[in-house]
Amino acid sequence: MNARITIEDLLAAKQQRRPIAAVSCYDYTTARLISQTPVDMILVGDSAAQMVLGFDSTLPVTMDFMVAITAAVRRATPNAYLVADMPFLSYHLSLGQAIRNAGRFLTEAGAQMVKIEATAAYLDTVKAVSEAGIPVMAHLGILPQRIAEMGRFHAKATTAETAVALIDLAGQMIAAGASALLVEGTAAEVAHIITARCEVPVISCGSGPGCDGQVLVAPDILGLLSEHPPKFTKAFGDLGARSIEAFQRYAEEVKAGQFPDAEHSYHMKSGETQRLEDMLRQSGQF
Ligand code: KIV
Repeated sequence: MNARITIEDLLAAKQQRRPIAAVSCYDYTTARLISQTPVDMILVGDSAAQMVLGFDSTLPVTMDFMVAITAAVRRATPNAYLVADMPFLSYHLSLGQAIRNAGRFLTEAGAQMVKIEATAAYLDTVKAVSEAGIPVMAHLGILPQRIAEMGRFHAKATTAETAVALIDLAGQMIAAGASALLVEGTAAEVAHIITARCEVPVISCGSGPGCDGQVLVAPDILGLLSEHPPKFTKAFGDLGARSIEAFQRYAEEVKAGQFPDAEHSYHMKSGETQRLEDMLRQSGQF
């Protein structure tokens, strides 16, 4: 029986330069498939707001929704290292709110780490949650929860000055207690420097090959959605087209009266149909 992946395993992977494969995934069925692969880490990302619920940003997902889907993913993947995304406004009000909500992911959903979109203003939050015994992944670079402030996202740390600021912030997050970093949409050279300088695992989301691991969202990996994928994603399958084909064939067979057939239906036990007809006839209903 395989054992559950722990933070020690991720640290060993970093030290031995074995790249960590992570997937952002939101449901039992997909997680069940992932559990049969060498993927090390599953992030239940708040991108579920877009990928599952169809919103145009990550902002509207709630704690209850995120806890429910994280627990579903854990039921499917007992061994993957499981990280849960803290949604917008779940850690912004007070340190107490942040600890209580972060703790829910561990106690109610079986997560091993929470991810917090981390500006310098949230160093205290990273520290308080970490000190409560809840490992934190500090998410740096592009921060999708700041869409209202930014308007549109651009690659981060593309100048020397902004790179120095991000490298410095990464160091502050580690000093505050972050157990891992996720660097999104950042110049590859800078993500590489952060990775080399930090003792914790650094996962790249669109930040180049120089990090300890990579994360992409499951629908992009599967090629499920064709609408404007970001530059850094890659479809490793063509399940969108294949899914449309399957739904098309299903609808055609239903409409043609071909599905369900006898093979896909339950049947009465031998002789029971005749008995039923007799009973209905006797009662005058047939
Ligand atoms: O919400 C998410 O899935 C994420 C990853 C894309 C990094 O934050």
